[in-house]
Amino acid sequence: MDINIRQASLEDCDELYNIRQMPKVMENILSYKNEPKDGIKNKFLNKGQDLWIVAEADDKVVGLIILGVHRNPRKSHVGYLTIIVNSNYHGMGIGSKLMSTVMDIADNNLKLKRLELSVFIENERAINLYKKFGFDIEGIAKRTALRNGIYCDEYNMARLLLD
Ligand SMILES: CC(C)(COP(=O)(O)OP(=O)(O)OC[C@H]1O[C@@H](n2cnc3c(N)ncnc32)[C@H](O)[C@@H]1OP(=O)(O)O)[C@@H](O)C(=O)NCCC(=O)NCCS
Repeated sequence: MDINIRQASLEDCDELYNIRQMPKVMENILSYKNEPKDGIKNKFLNKGQDLWIVAEADDKVVGLIILGVHRNPRKSHVGYLTIIVNSNYHGMGIGSKLMSTVMDIADNNLKLKRLELSVFIENERAINLYKKFGFDIEGIAKRTALRNGIYCDEYNMARLLLD
């Protein structure tokens, strides 16, 4: 399967909304049933310097990774990540391709020293993906959100690039 990686555009937002609403995606992110469709468009329009990269396969958008960088100058070496892949395409290497694209930009272009994210502790696939790209678990945040009606804990994970 050919996977094309490119910068996102406003036109991608409807398909990204559909992905956020999919089973096996929704419960693992902070999406919820029938969330307003404009939400993702507004987020894109207000993304500022954040990097939005999409993956295309079979002539459609099937995944998104967002890399943000803290704006406070004392934290300008720190980036944060979020990623989703269409659940019909899980386990096919799309998440890995998005991650390696963004790791390369973070390390070689932006020269970030720390990347951080949080992930529900039940989300084994995502945790494995992050570990594969050098993220370690730094701690657990308790009962941070509802997931399938139950309060759920999150791992705080980070990847450090040491001088
Ligand atoms: C997490 C997610 C982005 C991974 O994307 P993906 O395209 O499925 O990932 P890949 O196919 O590249 O697999 C990446 C790694 O995940 C792990 N993995 C794959 N399938 C797995 C499974 N069934 N169970 C556990 N781990 C699995 C493997 O370590 C794999 O690497 P490997 O193939 O080199 O061994 C995707 O599953 C997703 O969108 N999930 C729902 C949304 C989500 O959880 N986002 C992250 C919120 S923190």
